[in-house]
Amino acid sequence: MTRRILVLPGDGIGPEITAQATRVLEACQTLGLDAEIEQGLVGGSAYDAHGVPLPDETLDKARSADAILLGAVGGPKWDRIEDLSKRPEKGLLGLRKELGLFGNLRPAILYPQLAEASTLKPEVVSGLDIMIVRELTGGIYFGQPRGIEERDGQRVGFNTYVYSESEIERIGRVAFEMARKRNGKLCSVDKANVLEVTILWREVMDRLAAEYPDVELSHMYVDNAAMQLVRAPRQFDVVVTGNMFGDILSDAAAMLTGSIGMLPSASLNERGQGMYEPCHGSAPDIAGQNLANPLATILSVAMMLRYSLDEADLAARIEAAVGKVLDDGLRTADIASEGKRRVSTSEMGDAVLAALS
Ligand code: IPM
Ligand code: MG
Repeated sequence: MTRRILVLPGDGIGPEITAQATRVLEACQTLGLDAEIEQGLVGGSAYDAHGVPLPDETLDKARSADAILLGAVGGPKWDRIEDLSKRPEKGLLGLRKELGLFGNLRPAILYPQLAEASTLKPEVVSGLDIMIVRELTGGIYFGQPRGIEERDGQRVGFNTYVYSESEIERIGRVAFEMARKRNGKLCSVDKANVLEVTILWREVMDRLAAEYPDVELSHMYVDNAAMQLVRAPRQFDVVVTGNMFGDILSDAAAMLTGSIGMLPSASLNERGQGMYEPCHGSAPDIAGQNLANPLATILSVAMMLRYSLDEADLAARIEAAVGKVLDDGLRTADIASEGKRRVSTSEMGDAVLAALS
């Protein structure tokens, strides 16, 4: 059966990195992947063309795709759009919400070749392999009411942090299942010493633990988790947390691995349909200069093959090809170190393709 893959390059470095990842997808077609690849607009580029960050046409294409590859959205060009609902980020958040992509998997793996690129000591990060499971369609990102309004003569901004039991349970199951497939350790991160919503979160996680006796569940407050991530990150196997804490902790976890330019992600819904994107942003400061690291996006293609397209062998081949180019000493600027060969975005893509075939 022919699969449908939608590529949404987005803004900033998005088009450059997705171009390299698309070449990798095309190489997979020659290696037996039966898929057709389409493109669409999202974010600031969609706003410029259609006045909205998530045009209906893109949403329709996304709904009928088996998997979506997204580059990145946003940039200073659109920061002054006053209507928040028209900002590029809303294109991304809208896709997540409309497709029900509640389960966000963000693996932080240290490639041994990059140990020296991390700002942490090699003995702290070597062998690092953490999976952050972030809830992606609820919490304070989407809670109502929200807004900025006039109260007693001054403006007040407000958001609502809300999770229902069923939302917590559903992301909890993703995390317990993930821990079961890995080293059987799950750490749930909350702020249950202050926030009721996370008291409920903790209760639901404890309740689920009874169904997964083979998984060792622990709880940690988010401030401590941030500290532990930089102090002794290898204590973590799978981490499960809400939308905003997951956003913050996953950036911290990314830096442990040397560069956020290495981290892929998957966002899955209940039907296994998924959107795949690098964890990093649109990096407007280096956009259009062929400098960005395309590896997080290429590794996102590997996750797509594994989680949505049932092509685990092809996924492993891509991951091995990335390992090979790192072994060969190729480095984009973000992971550069002495004695290694500095390459551009497209040269990195060339090297991965060569290693694949
Ligand atoms: C991420 C990003 C997004 C988020 C932004 C761009 C809306 O930071 O995917 O981590 O906050 O979820
Ligand atoms: Mg983020």
